[in-house]
Amino acid sequence: MSSVYATDAVDNSKKTLVLGTSADFPPYEFHKTIDGKDQIVGFDIEIAKAIAKKMDAELVIEDMGFDSMLPALQSGRVDLVISGMTPTEERRQSIDFSDPYYKARQVVLVRSEDSDKYQTMTDLEGTTIGVQKGSIQEEIALGVKNASLVSLDKIGDIVLQLETKRVDALIVEDTVAKGYLNDKIVLSDAVPMDSESEAAIGVAKGNTELLNVINATLAELKQDDGITKMVEEASFLASGNAPDKDRNIFDIAYEYRHYYAKGIGYTLMLSALGVIFGFLIGLIITLIRMSGMRVLRWIGTAYVEVLRGTPMLVQLMIIHYGLALVFGVNLSPLQSGVITLSINSSAYLAEIFRAGIQGVDKGQMEAARSLGMTRSAALRHIILPQALKTVLPAIGNEFITIIKESSIISVIGMADIMYQANAIRNITYEGLSPYIIAAAIYFILTFMLSKLLGLFERKLSASDKR
Ligand code: ARG
Repeated sequence: MSSVYATDAVDNSKKTLVLGTSADFPPYEFHKTIDGKDQIVGFDIEIAKAIAKKMDAELVIEDMGFDSMLPALQSGRVDLVISGMTPTEERRQSIDFSDPYYKARQVVLVRSEDSDKYQTMTDLEGTTIGVQKGSIQEEIALGVKNASLVSLDKIGDIVLQLETKRVDALIVEDTVAKGYLNDKIVLSDAVPMDSESEAAIGVAKGNTELLNVINATLAELKQDDGITKMVEEASFLASGNAPDKDRNIFDIAYEYRHYYAKGIGYTLMLSALGVIFGFLIGLIITLIRMSGMRVLRWIGTAYVEVLRGTPMLVQLMIIHYGLALVFGVNLSPLQSGVITLSINSSAYLAEIFRAGIQGVDKGQMEAARSLGMTRSAALRHIILPQALKTVLPAIGNEFITIIKESSIISVIGMADIMYQANAIRNITYEGLSPYIIAAAIYFILTFMLSKLLGLFERKLSASDKR
């Protein structure tokens, strides 16, 4: 998941500094509602602000999964990464690091009733351990004998897995662990080997210009204990983040209604554009598949088969990240989302159109041709209108599917309903309610659409009965 936050109103005259971070790591970086607005705060963010200030640049924050950091730097999607990242040898192969700015230790979190059971690392052998995907904690867990790993993007989700007994233990940095402790989740006495780790700032390989500014800023901050102060302040901000126990699902729906409203807007826009372009591309593909030329027919069929035979999530990743990595085309989440949805649904629609056209009686084409119509005129005026009418219910179903499937686009930071639900989970630490509310909204949208389509169909069939 990634999202873009400008720290102040965007000032176009200034150059921008794009920061990549995984805002699930209080007090380093985390979501917090301030003045009714979702913001990303933390001491990493304060350091980023200091660097931006030194460069006289506008700071833009991109929130994404921790394991997207390296590719994001390499593809130029972000300028620097501050995410409590440890400068490991392995990472140094692909990016450059600043001087370290913080030191932490690894700890193990368990459910309170299990704290006697897991007292040393050996006790963890054979258990299921939760870690953040792509983190050094993942490496540590790999070293525990016979343990199964659950690696997820966001630490909040791993905490949820611990609470719901899907994992037995969670390895994370001590500073971060504090923010997730409560009466159910406690620190265990087990201490991972090589438990110390530093944090440093990552930049693209060879970007010494930026690296120099970063190191100079860090040196200044360290001189007057600036970083220690930032950590203290951020820890204080993070301490108020525990879930509010007497809040029910309706309170959440009401409190975060503006988030959901914004999400509905994006979901509808994304789906509408996906449907319109999908419809047009689908029609073109159908015509190509009916052409007299064998190569064209073959290309059309290949298009449909490939798009139907690969997952939309994979198509999305290729369009959003692949194009950026290989061709340097950096599409916005909205652009990538619309393109993915359109081409994906165009394949399904092309199949639907083909079925509809094949369903029209052969005699219709023959009659049209014998009246002197060209093949394409007959197609346009006689065949397609009849075909469209019979496949209308199938097209309607496809529209409903698009509304639901568009939720996948949230993983690249499109601020749709699903994305908002995730953001609200990050802010409230509520594991389930934000999803239930999202499900209700999706259901209401698709249900209304299917009623509407039913009405439309009845109108059309009325003309048949005359
Ligand atoms: N220090 C660990 C590492 O580099 C974990 C960092 C996780 N950061 C985050 N923002 N979630 O692998």
